Amino acid sequence: MAKLLLETLRGNPGEKVPFWFMRQAGRYLPEYREVRKTVPTFMDFCYDPAKATEVTLQPIRRYGMDGAILFADILVVPDGLGQKVWFETGLGPQLDPVATEASYSQLSLSGFHEKVGNVYETVSRLSAELPENTTLIGFAGAPWTVATYMIGGQGSKDHAAARQLGYSNPELFGKILNLLVDATAEYLCKQIEAGADVVQIFDSWSAALPETMFDRWVIEPTKAIVEKVRAKHSETPIIGFPRLAGALLKKYVLETGIDGVSLDTGVPLGWAADEIQTEVCVQGNLDPHLVVAGGEMMVSETNRILESLKGGAHIFNLGHGFVPETPPENVALLAETIKAFNR
Ligand code: CP3
Repeated sequence: MAKLLLETLRGNPGEKVPFWFMRQAGRYLPEYREVRKTVPTFMDFCYDPAKATEVTLQPIRRYGMDGAILFADILVVPDGLGQKVWFETGLGPQLDPVATEASYSQLSLSGFHEKVGNVYETVSRLSAELPENTTLIGFAGAPWTVATYMIGGQGSKDHAAARQLGYSNPELFGKILNLLVDATAEYLCKQIEAGADVVQIFDSWSAALPETMFDRWVIEPTKAIVEKVRAKHSETPIIGFPRLAGALLKKYVLETGIDGVSLDTGVPLGWAADEIQTEVCVQGNLDPHLVVAGGEMMVSETNRILESLKGGAHIFNLGHGFVPETPPENVALLAETIKAFNR
């Protein structure tokens, strides 16, 4: 049986609109919380192939999405490069910051694949266990977004540490981005070799950068990764997600060479249909908070998105990930609404 999501990304949409949801595996599901309790740390969880496989499959069993996203985290890459990464309840991700030549020189690609190898094992188990019409989605963070954590040592609102290093020491900052380009391209290639059908590059923090820096920090590194992955795996579609890129979204699409783009909730759909969907497959963009509310407004907004984008290749998704307070029964209604729609 054909994989509807994969075919849609290749520019061959069918009668049905394929769907998956960012953070479809996660704390809103009681069965996820059960598994999560059995592992002491979040990074150990990401590196446990049996448990990561199980939680990837959980939402597929409940809702029958067309796409299953590998369970891991974008911070696996700095961990694989030798940076210390851990998660603290209430604080989120914590890293020993890389902000000097000395700390940068501790990082290396040499032990990377050994360190993160269990993630590839998860991908190959998923590839064997998923229903044959389900598309397996691998992923990585984009260099800019991952660098904001590596340099700042934690999540932040304005990414001050990364921006300031980018301006005050562009040479060191450039070295960090280049290392991330190399590591991320290899990481995605290994996921594809282990069985990923599609890969997505998350640039969650690409908002509100000056245009010059958006070119240098977002577009160029992403383009370099796309070229490196294509050189080895020309058949595997790549989805980009430059979240909140605003008016720079079209430039991102045209210059990076991605096959599909994930639209954040704020992207107007008439504009997306005219300017973006004519170039690549679009994915998106229901407000995740609408799924917390559920009900008629969620159903009508879902149908509006489906109608607005039915003229071309569209994968239904959220504009960002599910939040933990999402009621699972609202996700069931959302999935039924999408499945009932015909293009
Ligand atoms: O279902 C899926 O989407 C697949 C798995 C996945 C996770 N993280 C699991 C996770 C994916 C694709 C990610 C990507 C990710 N991680 C991004 C990019 C996408 C986005 O959300 O913008 C970013 C920025 C991160 C970094 C990260 N990981 C943060 C900031 C946090 C803590 C915030 C929080 O929700 O607590 C994480 C932890 C994390 N990654 C969880 C999950 C399910 C929750 C941790 C837990 O279960 O204890």
